[in-house]
Amino acid sequence: MQNNIFSGLFVGQNLLTLKEVDSTNNFLKNLLTNSKPLPEGTVIMAEHQYAGRGQQQNKWVSQPGKNLTFSILFKPTFLNAVNQFDLTRTISVGVYDTLRTLLGDGLKIKWPNDIYYNDRKLGGMLIENMVQGNRINNSVVGIGLNINQGDFPEGIGNATSVKQILHKDYDLRLLLSEICSHIEAYYLHLKAGKIDLIRSSYLSRLYWLNEERTFRAGDEIFTGIIKGVADNGLLQVYRDGLTASYNLKEIEFLNK
Ligand code: BTN
Repeated sequence: MQNNIFSGLFVGQNLLTLKEVDSTNNFLKNLLTNSKPLPEGTVIMAEHQYAGRGQQQNKWVSQPGKNLTFSILFKPTFLNAVNQFDLTRTISVGVYDTLRTLLGDGLKIKWPNDIYYNDRKLGGMLIENMVQGNRINNSVVGIGLNINQGDFPEGIGNATSVKQILHKDYDLRLLLSEICSHIEAYYLHLKAGKIDLIRSSYLSRLYWLNEERTFRAGDEIFTGIIKGVADNGLLQVYRDGLTASYNLKEIEFLNK
């Protein structure tokens, strides 16, 4: 019998580890449509994803066996669809807090849900909500984190890993169990209606918050200051004396 290192109530209690899959998000979504009801907190973890998906139709490429690529099923039926960004906040702070104990200062959440160390990307999330009416029935929360990968292909310019930062290898299952318990704790706060706690935790961990920085929106390059994130998830940037709101497709962070 295997020891259960997942200390939470439900996240990770039903864990399926796959050697190889196209995408853990796809796999979990297929399970949801084709099989009997799955318990909330089910986790699908893959050693290798050959068609991992990122945000905005990007690919998520990860060296086999080196990193965390997994998806968690949530059933946030208590959450109105207009507030779905609160789930994004919840998951982001859960992941952040786990890694913060390892990596310390320098770790940030880059809006909307990237995990950054200094100016490099350590991981990201693909959260796919299944909405019916104004409720979220199921949410497939896909998380990819670079942990033990020593180097990255040329094209992936700004990626980093825990290994590159700390020069040590980490036990992936142990880290997964810690991430699951942090996410669960914040999820239970969300469920209990502690929205202010979730929103303020997210905001205080945000990359470039209150800093004068350069952005691109369409053809325009401008200087602005991130002031926060609206309830609906839009990034709020103060520029030219006004606060403008942007969605993910509309704004790019320029590091130089
Ligand atoms: C991003 O930063 O663009 C989001 C990356 C999300 C990657 C994870 S890996 C596990 C899950 N399965 C996928 O196909 N994607 C997510």
